[in-house]
Amino acid sequence: MSSVLTIRGGVPLTGRVTVRGAKNLVPKAMVAALLGNEPSVLRNVPEIKDVEVVTSLLQLHGVTVEKDPLTGDLTLDPTNAKTASHTAIDAHAGDSRIPILLCGPLIHAIGEAFIPDLGGCKIGDRPIDYHLNVLRQFGAVVEKRPGGIHISAPGGLKGAKISLPYPSVGATEQVLLSATRAEGITELSGAATEPEIVDLIAVLQKMGAIISVQTDRTIRIEGVPDLGGYNHRALSDRNESASWASAALVTRGDIFVEGATQRDMMTFLNTYRKVGGGMDIGDDGIRFYHKGGKLNPLVLETDVHPGFMTDWQQPLIVALTQAEGVSIVHETVYENRFGFTDALIRMGANIQVHRECLGSVPCRFGQRNFLHSAVISGPAQLTGTDIDVPDLRGGFSHLIAALAANGTSRVTGIDIINRGYERFTEKLAGLGADFDITAAE
Ligand code: EPZ
Repeated sequence: MSSVLTIRGGVPLTGRVTVRGAKNLVPKAMVAALLGNEPSVLRNVPEIKDVEVVTSLLQLHGVTVEKDPLTGDLTLDPTNAKTASHTAIDAHAGDSRIPILLCGPLIHAIGEAFIPDLGGCKIGDRPIDYHLNVLRQFGAVVEKRPGGIHISAPGGLKGAKISLPYPSVGATEQVLLSATRAEGITELSGAATEPEIVDLIAVLQKMGAIISVQTDRTIRIEGVPDLGGYNHRALSDRNESASWASAALVTRGDIFVEGATQRDMMTFLNTYRKVGGGMDIGDDGIRFYHKGGKLNPLVLETDVHPGFMTDWQQPLIVALTQAEGVSIVHETVYENRFGFTDALIRMGANIQVHRECLGSVPCRFGQRNFLHSAVISGPAQLTGTDIDVPDLRGGFSHLIAALAANGTSRVTGIDIINRGYERFTEKLAGLGADFDITAAE
């Protein structure tokens, strides 16, 4: 049953929220358990839709997944892995992009994989060409079938020398999950090195994998025949932490984010300070708050790690609508990630999007007709309106804009937000937000 949020704006968010395991690591660590010959335990697991989707996909393939009712920790036992029926897998088509990462582990476990057509946020074309090319380089046979892709490797996967055209997080994970038990050495150049990637490498190392990350973004994997299980506490979600930090600025509030980790948010924290946000960095979390004065405009360019994370720009842009002056954001990771600004403009924000690369370096999308640069002029008074949430991060941005706006907003499509923000309506209520949840007609 879909719900509707009716939000009465103008109330500063104040209080404390807890952020748990990273949405962009936990499902991948669950998939990694398939590579082991004994059970694994994953801790600090959030209650989000992406975890539910991967749980049911793994169960379809004979993996038992037990959830501790008190802690939420997962125990995953892959010892009876089996082929799943295509129709059953198809039922999950469109839920998320994670299924593509099952290819390597399933080939190692049962010799083949069928991956349904993928879902994920509509923030660009989201192709999987890098993934399929990587699998072919490991010796897999990739066949397009109705409703999805069938992958097999009769002779098993063999280590390969791979170079990615772009430091893709997903393609790097594809290599890690395929190479650890492939025969021989794999060398991946042009790899992604996000904190979630390093945490996945930590999971695999606990299982017995031999993986080294070199200074030039090259990752070297020595294939081993067998892997054991792991016991791992997932790193916390830096994207959710940054979202609450932006919410504190937008609503002129004060939020302590338990679990926010300075090490993974260094670039965000520098930007937050430049905008004029207040922060107290502690061992168990970070307090983010509006200092009462004006917010400063800035010029921002998203990039792969350790650059400014693309998932951080949407909530921050809402704060930039309140800054005094003109800000520029050049989105270089996704070609179409400013769709969420339409609703902000309807609320009164002054934002123009452009095809040009308005940043320090031309990116892959320059002169290719993608509206991937934004110019934001502030401060702008936001007024409540009807909003239908377009994607995960854009949806959270709409929520915090509605919370700061004058008047009432009616927000639909909020189920998308459950994919990556654990218990977000409870957290909003705990921070003093004024809203009602009703079932959609
Ligand atoms: C992961 O997506 C994250 N999702 C994204 O978070 C994050 O924004 C992104 O990495 C970048 O950090 C998960 O981990 C589930 P990519 P992923 O492969 O792996 C292009 C969120 O809000 N590309 O690094 O799909 C792609 O189109 C989400 O939490 C190809 O061209 O990202 C994009 O332009 C959004 N071909 C660029 O590379 C491919 O085969 C980066 O994508 C794969 C990717």
